[in-house]
Amino acid sequence: MVKVDKFIPKAIEKISQQVEGKAIIALSGGVDSSVCAILAHRAIGDRLTPIYIDTGLMRKGETERIKEIFCDMNLQVIDAKDRFLGALAGIEDPEEKRKAVGETFIRVFEEEAKLLEADCLIQGTIYPDRIESEGGIKSHHNVGGLPSVIDFKAIVEPIEDLYKDEVREVARALDLPHEISERMPFPGPGLSVRIVGQVTEELVEIVREANAIVEEELVERFHPWQTFAAIVGKGTGVKGDVRVHGWIVAVRAVGSRDGMTAEAMELPWEVLSRIESRISAALPTVARVVYDLTPKPPATIEFE
Ligand code: XMP
Repeated sequence: MVKVDKFIPKAIEKISQQVEGKAIIALSGGVDSSVCAILAHRAIGDRLTPIYIDTGLMRKGETERIKEIFCDMNLQVIDAKDRFLGALAGIEDPEEKRKAVGETFIRVFEEEAKLLEADCLIQGTIYPDRIESEGGIKSHHNVGGLPSVIDFKAIVEPIEDLYKDEVREVARALDLPHEISERMPFPGPGLSVRIVGQVTEELVEIVREANAIVEEELVERFHPWQTFAAIVGKGTGVKGDVRVHGWIVAVRAVGSRDGMTAEAMELPWEVLSRIESRISAALPTVARVVYDLTPKPPATIEFE
């Protein structure tokens, strides 16, 4: 386990040495990038500009909350929804989706970096991201999905050797709000990997609403490592007297220590049943709601 008292000053010192000019950080609002933003801000002060890219693939209310929480920093919020949807259009393959999102991310950052004359990019990559990317299991957007031409002078990854629970400890020691330090992991490619197959604006809206319902029902009461909803395909349902071909929403709730392995949570029937009724009532194009029982392995946590 990391010794936070030693880790924090050492990380700050290392960032000051690595960053010569101005730096930007990809602030997503997750615990990883938030910890990096605070460390980097302490290391280089106003030479840091945290940038939040609104990809249009974030959870409900997330952008508004980030603006509130980081209002003390020189936060730049970039609306790039159309660019991300455009980059994803027509793509079905999960790894291609990750690459499309990753490349768009980096391009938007590069543009901002140039405007700000920043030559350093700070990233919240953690140890399991690195291991899984090196092992070819999945290209995480902040490691394997990078395009080959990057003109940043340096890429700094202050927490690349930490596991998630260690990052949370550092977050608590840095006095980040509970909402951030205990926040569930959320994939870099956002809701795009919670839609199996092609991503459209309509499906993003559906999955965003379903995710919000699942989080409301499960996070505070059961403290899962991760819980979410995904659209996994189409199936037949009945609306009134008519058979319809609607979306299948899968609910996932898992316990885990580090995301490398996970087990499905045993949830009370009344809770699962309420989730189903709320999703079916709120989203008329959903025909079916299912609960995923599969541990990791053999499944992964996300559906793609
Ligand atoms: P899987 O689905 O591989 O996920 O069991 C393990 C953990 O990683 C998250 N995840 C990602 N995070 N970019 C990320 O930054 C990605 O492409 C990505 N894919 C999965 C997942 O939510 C879980 O916490």
